[in-house]
Amino acid sequence: MSSAHPSNSSNPLEITITRPDDWHVHLRDGEALSRVIAHTAFQFGRAIVMPNLKPPVTTTEQALAYKDRILAALRESHHPDQNKISNFQPLMTLYLTDTTAPAELERAKAAGIVAVKLYPFGATTNSDSGVTDIRKTYPALEALQRLGMPLLIHAEVTDPSVDLFDREAVFIDRHLKAIRKDLPELKIVVEHITTLEAAQYVQSGDKFLAATITAHHLLYNRNAIFTGGIRPHYYCLPVLKREAHRLALVKAATGASSKFFLGTDSAPHAAHLKEHASGCAGCYTAFSAMELYAEAFDHAGAIDRLEAFASFNGADFYGLPRNTGHITLRRESCQMPESLAFGSAKLVPLRAGEALEWRFVS
Ligand code: NCD
Ligand code: ZN
Repeated sequence: MSSAHPSNSSNPLEITITRPDDWHVHLRDGEALSRVIAHTAFQFGRAIVMPNLKPPVTTTEQALAYKDRILAALRESHHPDQNKISNFQPLMTLYLTDTTAPAELERAKAAGIVAVKLYPFGATTNSDSGVTDIRKTYPALEALQRLGMPLLIHAEVTDPSVDLFDREAVFIDRHLKAIRKDLPELKIVVEHITTLEAAQYVQSGDKFLAATITAHHLLYNRNAIFTGGIRPHYYCLPVLKREAHRLALVKAATGASSKFFLGTDSAPHAAHLKEHASGCAGCYTAFSAMELYAEAFDHAGAIDRLEAFASFNGADFYGLPRNTGHITLRRESCQMPESLAFGSAKLVPLRAGEALEWRFVS
């Protein structure tokens, strides 16, 4: 777990940075969508919206209909700052299956769909339609390469004989290296990296390879899941790893490489489904995402690197313009709520009931 923050008078108390984007978020649908959308839209200019709905978003038509529901939920969210949040742009993705047709990807590209997500079958929440054998998707991956559309990868093997904590590193060796060799100009984002191996692999790659990093993987190691009893709100996939991996992620995020950028992987689940005998994977961080990232960067003495990570690197990789607006964060303690409204259920955000070291000012 990250150490207590020593007060450091050489760090600024307030920072203003270009409005950031979230390059990996789960907004869900229906009632859940209406409860979470304003949290993301309040902090970020744009977000890459994950397609793992039930059923998954596998066609252009479904993605465009989902985008309309997101924008409708945003309009109806009655946020006190409705003007500001109405500028939020959801960037849509398709869910890759064994049978995704190249023609579907051409339609998607023409309709402004931004990227395609690869979930290995059974790897995580709503991955039952995921890919069973990556070779089956080669016609689709070749189309993505041709179209210049990024492939976003949940990079974990699902082989039950592989230790849960090793599944990301094994995916790189067994699959990612082969995909990169066979399709060298396919743009790939390794999503929510959690290990030293992934950080090093991405760092040493060329301009076609990048990675997102969550706030929780920068702030916590796997002890957080087991401190004083089992703590389901720290359980996500890929699971938190050892301290050495957390340190490697902090180094990657705060370093000079532009290949690492912000992706919260904020993944809301009703509290009772996480506090359960077989609890759901996913941490809800959208409510205080930039406060958590600011804390992680500040602890590393690198708050000046936050803007590149949060606001520049992702847009540059995706070939999109950087945002023009700004946000301001202040180093000032504030309290996280114990829970948030989530329809008839409750949503427990990461850090619920505890202090945050940074505050989102505007
Ligand atoms: C995500 C979810 O709940 O949709 N859960 C998670 O633990 N990150 C799925 C995912 O991104 O793996
Ligand atoms: Zn995710």
